[in-house]
Amino acid sequence: MKRDKIIELSNKCIANTYNRYPITLVKGRGLKVWDSEGKEYYDFVSGIGVNNLGHCHPQVVEAIKKQVGELIHTSNLYYTLPQVEMAKLLTKKSFADKVFFCNSGAEANEAAIKLARKYSKDHYGEDRYEIITMYQSFHGRTIATISATAQERFHKGFEPLLSGFRYVPFNDLPAVEKVINSRTCAIMVEPIQGEGGINVPDKDYLKGLREICFSKRLLLIFDEVQTGMGRTGKFFAYEYFGTSPDIMTLSKSLGGGIAIGAMLSREEAASSFTPGSHASTFGGNPLACAAGVAAMKAIDKNVLSHCKRMGDYFTRRLKKLKDKYSFIMSVRGTGLMIGLELNFPASGITEECLKRGFLINCTMERVLRFLPPLIIKAKEIDKLIVVLDDIFEKIKNKDSSHPLPSGSEKFSFSSLRGHV
Ligand SMILES: Cc1ncc(COP(=O)(O)O)c(C=O)c1O
Repeated sequence: MKRDKIIELSNKCIANTYNRYPITLVKGRGLKVWDSEGKEYYDFVSGIGVNNLGHCHPQVVEAIKKQVGELIHTSNLYYTLPQVEMAKLLTKKSFADKVFFCNSGAEANEAAIKLARKYSKDHYGEDRYEIITMYQSFHGRTIATISATAQERFHKGFEPLLSGFRYVPFNDLPAVEKVINSRTCAIMVEPIQGEGGINVPDKDYLKGLREICFSKRLLLIFDEVQTGMGRTGKFFAYEYFGTSPDIMTLSKSLGGGIAIGAMLSREEAASSFTPGSHASTFGGNPLACAAGVAAMKAIDKNVLSHCKRMGDYFTRRLKKLKDKYSFIMSVRGTGLMIGLELNFPASGITEECLKRGFLINCTMERVLRFLPPLIIKAKEIDKLIVVLDDIFEKIKNKDSSHPLPSGSEKFSFSSLRGHV
C-alpha cells in the first residue's frame, strides 16, 4: 500500500492522539530505518528510548523467533522459565529483591504508586498515602500517572485528578522537606528527567532524597523508564548518584522493542503485595521476557562503556555548536540521553532533519532530544552534527538583520525551505 493511502486510512481509523510525521516506516536495522518510498533515515529517537540496541538486534530477533515457536502467552496463573530468568537478571543487576511485571512505563508506575500506598497503610495506618513528585516530571498517561506527573499540560481536560500527590521543584531538597507531612508516604522521581527537557540534578540530590526518606520513613521510588537499560552509560542511572531507591520502574527498552514493564522493589516493601493485590494479564509473558532476557544480556560492559564514550563525544560536538550559535541556550544530559535547548520552538528543526534523513525528537517545545541507539558510531554522530550546523547557520544568517525569536514566539522555518 502506498504511503499516502496509509496516511489517509490512519487519519480515518486511528484515534487522533499523535502528531505524526508524514512518513511510513517499513524496515529498521541498527541505527537506520527506511520508509515505504525507500528513503533511508538515521534514527536518533530509537522509538523514544526503546531501541537501545538498535533496530532488530540479532540476539533479540533470534530469541523472539525461538520463543514464538514454543509458547507465546500463558497466564500468570502458571510459572514460566523466561519470566523467572528475566526477574533473576533484573534482581542480580539492581538493588531489588522482587519484580512485578506489566506492559508499559505507566503501568509500572501505577504498580509503584499502589505498592507505596499499600506498604504505608500496612505499616503506618490509613492516613498515609501522599506521594511527592517533581515539576517537569513525566510518569505516564493513565489517570494515576498523569496525577503524579507535575505538568499541567497533561492534566487539562481530565480533571478531577487522583488526589494524593504533592508537587515540588526538581533538584530542590528544602522544597521536599517543606511539604512532608503526616500523610506523606513516598517520594517519586526520575533520576534524570526525560520528557521534561533532559534535566540532570546535582550530584547529591538523589542521596539527599534517600536521607530524607530514611529519616521520615518514606519510600523512595525511582522512575527509570527512560534512563534505565544502559541509556546513560550505566545499567541504571541511579548508579551515578551513589544511592539506590526502595522501588524502581522500568519499561521502554526493557524488552528490546517488545512491550514490557517492570516494578522492582526491596523485599520489605514487596511483602505488602500478596496474591490478589495487583495483577496483569500480559505482564511478563514468555515472548516479552524471552526478548527482554536477550536484550539484557546484550547490554554488556562493552555496550555501556561505548555508550558513555559516544555520549561524551556527542555532547562535546553539540557544545561546540553552542559556542558558535548564541540561540543555543544549553547542552545537557548523561550518556546517550542528551538535550539541546534553543531559545525558540524547535519543531521546525526536527522537520528539517527529517527531510534530510535524520529522525530527532523535540520535547518541552524548545529542547531537541537525542536518544540514539547505544551502538551508534562517532562518524554517524558527525553526520548529524554537519546537518545541524548547516541548519543553525541558515537560521543565524536569516536572522542577522532581525533579532532571533524568543519567548513563546513561533519561529517559522517555511521561509528557509528551498534553501536548506
Ligand atoms: C520517565 C517515564 N516514565 C513513564 C513513562 C510512560 O511510559 P509508557 O509510555 O510506556 O506508559 C515514560 C514515557 O515516556 C517516561 O519517560
